[in-house]
Amino acid sequence: MSEEIMYNQQVCEEQTKYSENSDSDISDKLFNEEMDIEEHDVNCGNEECILNGRCNTNDLPAPSTLSDLIDGLHKIFAHQKINVDFVRNYMSMYKSNHRDWKKFAKFDQHRYTRNLVDEGNGRFNLMILCWNEAQGSSIHSHANSHCFLKVIDGAVEEELFQWPTDSESEHAMTPVQIGTVKRNEVKYMCDELGLHRVSNPSHTDKAVTLHLYSPPFNECTIFDERTGHQQKAQTTFWSKFGKRTPFGKTGGQCTIIEAENN
Ligand SMILES: [Fe+2]
Repeated sequence: MSEEIMYNQQVCEEQTKYSENSDSDISDKLFNEEMDIEEHDVNCGNEECILNGRCNTNDLPAPSTLSDLIDGLHKIFAHQKINVDFVRNYMSMYKSNHRDWKKFAKFDQHRYTRNLVDEGNGRFNLMILCWNEAQGSSIHSHANSHCFLKVIDGAVEEELFQWPTDSESEHAMTPVQIGTVKRNEVKYMCDELGLHRVSNPSHTDKAVTLHLYSPPFNECTIFDERTGHQQKAQTTFWSKFGKRTPFGKTGGQCTIIEAENN
């Protein structure tokens, strides 16, 4: 099944009408109307594709290194329309190699870290998240962006939640689904699929994940598991391009309500 997404926030807004349906139902209904556009993908606006007379992202070879993966993602996201299945499959084809990403993997004993790897020409952010034993995120949303999560070391647990229906009253949030994402597997997430929390369930092993967010964002909403109450949180980077981010300059804003990884 093809999953076409427009490169703007309209997608997630459109998906809301399918919020009662399963993941595959959402994909089917959302992207069917875009199918004919995919067949005429040469109109994506990418100069190379126009010259070749057809869109060539499906011709990309499997990335053998993280650098290859980044190069391929740049080509894919140069298009106006992005195929979610293709991105997910392309990221799956990269087989994690510690040598590729060790310079970005920065751990903190107190909380998990977000480490920027590539800014994707403004179309996406690629980052590596490092999870010490038993560290986890808050329950959070994704600011109408598309999230691809690939485990590159260890394994993580993903808990899915529905959006709270009533912001005035307090209701404990309980996961509707819990799953494990193993090394080299890729998960897709966006606001229309709900909320999630990611954690390293291991008390003996670290975990490392590679995340792609498109479009990039620097604020999301986090939720109190006990009450369902929500608040805005700035997303911050522990490091950028392998170098520690100066303290107090992580989010580009001075007033950080609460720094949250995602
Ligand atoms: Fe997330």
